[in-house]
Order: sequence, then structure tokens, then C-alpha cells
Amino acid sequence: MEWVTFLKVMIEDEKAAIQKYGLALEAADSEELKRALERLMHEEEFHVDFLEQEIRRLQAS
Ligand SMILES: [Fe+2]
Repeated sequence: MEWVTFLKVMIEDEKAAIQKYGLALEAADSEELKRALERLMHEEEFHVDFLEQEIRRLQAS
């Protein structure tokens, strides 16, 4: 398994999820739902950061 390639693919999936949450946020009609979607979107942003960190760690080893 080429792990760096795998992690890069996963980053693209996370970014696609962020975009979908962004679209859902625009359509959301309640503050409670908007807060939940924003929280989920931020979690996906954290996943992108985490995956990028793992790539750097793998490339350094
Ligand atoms: Fe994620």
C-alpha cells in the first residue's frame, strides 16, 4: 500500500465533505442546524490538518 497516496485520496474526500456541509449550511433554516453543520464542517477541517500532518510524518521517516 502506498500510504501517502491513500492519505491524499482521503484528504480529497474530507474536502468534498467540507464542501457538502458548506452547501447544506447555505440551505439550513434553523440556527440549531447551522451550528451542528458548522461543527461537523470544522471537524472535517481538523481531519484535513491531521491527514496532512501524517503525510509529513511519513515523508520525514
Ligand atoms: Fe472526516
